[in-house]
Amino acid sequence: MRYRVTLIEGDGIGPEVTGATCRILEAAGAPVEWERVTAGERAFAEGGHPLPEAVIESLRRNRVGLKGPLGTPKGSGYRSANVQLRQKLQLFVGWRPVRSLPGIASRYSDVDVVVLRENTEGLYAGIEHQIRDDTVVSLKLSSRGAATRIARWAFEYARNHGRRKITVCHKKSVLPLGDGAFVDAFFEVGQDYPFMAQEEASLDQISMSLAEDPSQFDVLLLENLYGDILSDLCAGLVGGLGVVPGANVGHEVALFEAVHGTAPDIAGRGIADPLAVLLSGCLMVEWMGAHDVGRRVRDAIDVVLEAGQVRTGDLGGTANTEEFAQAIIDAMEGRP
Ligand code: NAI
Repeated sequence: MRYRVTLIEGDGIGPEVTGATCRILEAAGAPVEWERVTAGERAFAEGGHPLPEAVIESLRRNRVGLKGPLGTPKGSGYRSANVQLRQKLQLFVGWRPVRSLPGIASRYSDVDVVVLRENTEGLYAGIEHQIRDDTVVSLKLSSRGAATRIARWAFEYARNHGRRKITVCHKKSVLPLGDGAFVDAFFEVGQDYPFMAQEEASLDQISMSLAEDPSQFDVLLLENLYGDILSDLCAGLVGGLGVVPGANVGHEVALFEAVHGTAPDIAGRGIADPLAVLLSGCLMVEWMGAHDVGRRVRDAIDVVLEAGQVRTGDLGGTANTEEFAQAIIDAMEGRP
């Protein structure tokens, strides 16, 4: 049985890193067939729109996608295709598992935190008004429905993935209504999961504790802006955005993607690090139930990183994208 997966190569380094990822997943025996569609700057140049309807249709049909980074066409007047994808497909969960990797220098070696970010509300609703010449009001949207929806997803995720504890993040001291409702919804849903440890902590408290000792956290549940910031902070604990996978998930569609951008400074040179998209690809095949394929690729990544001989420039090495991809395929096939 093979599954059709929507593939958006993306802009800048996107085709290079997704190309390497597809090659490795295919070598690992991933049961997928790619349906290629174009979004972002390339789609804008070709057809005048960064998110053609064909992309949305393909994702709705296949329900799973892998995406390279997308650039926002300058001066086009369009909102980012990434934001549009999340809104049109109601990809309400930003899912970023952050784990230490062998041989990657960072402050901690035992990080294993999953960051879950509410993707659709908060300040990203984009509600701003100029109320006086020198004054703007930027509104933060918080609905009980969205808070309950992501809380339910978080508990189901934690239960199905063997996690122990969920910490909900807030700034209730200054936003007792909005953030208060986010926390209340979390504990209300949590009553259905009495076997899961559940706690609340303020944004400032979590930020300090993450820097001091990230091992005290397991799953973090955050509204949009806090999630945006703390997910990058967590990435920084294990070596940065280049080594962290991600996905945006809704009830109908799951779109797997790296969190880094199009890296225009190195695009087209074949030297980009494919690791973040590759790890996102591992998450994707595991999500589809092909755990053996994900494990095979992850083990090979660990072997290559631990040996430290073949690395791309961002990790202090001299290998290019294809050499790194080949090293992983060789490790999977038992070649030194
Ligand atoms: P960026 O992540 O593209 O680049 C920041 C730095 O990291 C650059 O020095 C780049 O060379 C390096 N870098 C990023 N990914 C790398 C990789 N895989 N291997 C080696 N080095 C890597 O961020 P920037 O410059 O802020 O954004 C560039 C474009 O990407 C913008 O148009 C932005 O809108 C878009 N972007 C798209 C995202 C997405 O589609 N999810 C996320 C972030 C930015």
